[in-house]
Amino acid sequence: MDWLSHQIKIKYRKFWKYFNRITKVPGLLWIILMSIPVFFIAFTHIRPKLTNIFTEMKNIEFEDRNKGYLIKTVGCKIPDLPVFSSDMAKYFEYEFDGAHCNKDLPPLVQSNLTSLFLDKDSLLKYNVSNLDLFYCCYKELKRKIPVGRPDSQYEFSSVCSKFEKTVEIKEEFVLVECIYDNEKIYKDLFAFIPPKHDVALLDKNRKQFNILIIGIDGISRLNFHRQMNKTVKFLKQLISQNS
Ligand SMILES: *[C@@H]1O[C@H](CO)[C@@H](O)[C@H](O)[C@H]1NC(C)=O
Ligand SMILES: *[C@@H]1O[C@H](CO)[C@@H](O)[C@H](O)[C@H]1NC(C)=O
Ligand SMILES: *[C@@H]1O[C@H](CO)[C@@H](O)[C@H](O)[C@H]1NC(C)=O
Repeated sequence: MDWLSHQIKIKYRKFWKYFNRITKVPGLLWIILMSIPVFFIAFTHIRPKLTNIFTEMKNIEFEDRNKGYLIKTVGCKIPDLPVFSSDMAKYFEYEFDGAHCNKDLPPLVQSNLTSLFLDKDSLLKYNVSNLDLFYCCYKELKRKIPVGRPDSQYEFSSVCSKFEKTVEIKEEFVLVECIYDNEKIYKDLFAFIPPKHDVALLDKNRKQFNILIIGIDGISRLNFHRQMNKTVKFLKQLISQNS
């Protein structure tokens, strides 16, 4: 062991000798120089005030913006970064000309809270003239028992259940397909929230909570404000109407 540590010491000295020769700066100074970025990174992450280098925005929902935080509690801290700043603007300079689903044809199948129904007025747009050659059906879409990445593992029920004008749906997610003259002419996915009677029996006499939960997944708070500002406006209106 002594021999080994001796060898390491020699190697270390040789290294610094070589290093000093090429840089002409003593080793200790190099260590100090290299520590500066480390300290800088540590300080910008630890000291909340440094998040104030970004200009503050007026229209942020939470009042408590102590020292550059949107939310600052013991358990949760979210920095108050600006929704719009000139630094970010270049990434958002695009024109959105609306969503163009289904080659801009109107939907052939629509839904309400409980049912799917065929939109007869759209049939002509899909060149369906002989109803005998036409039908729509739905399959349940469900998750598989996850192995690995859960969100990408799903399956459809093997039977496609035909429906005519309308059908009540008991499943949460369904894929609808419409066939005309043996050709698939339409495909769409629908989500439902069927009551789950087997999960909770409600006590009809008890006073019920009145809560509306709206969830939007897959987008950061800041990008939600940047890219879905009409939705932000709508939600704010909803809150102010009800408070
Ligand atoms: C949904 O549509 C079906 C078929 O048109 C209708 O029978 C049902 O009452 C509607 N349900 C709601 C909640 O609007
Ligand atoms: C319907 O027929 C017209 C005329 O043949 C054609 O231009 C159009 O693309 C057809 N539409 C569909 C959805 O197939
Ligand atoms: C949403 O953002 C666009 C582009 O910045 C702007 O023109 C529009 O007025 C904003 N709409 C609302 C409701 O704030």
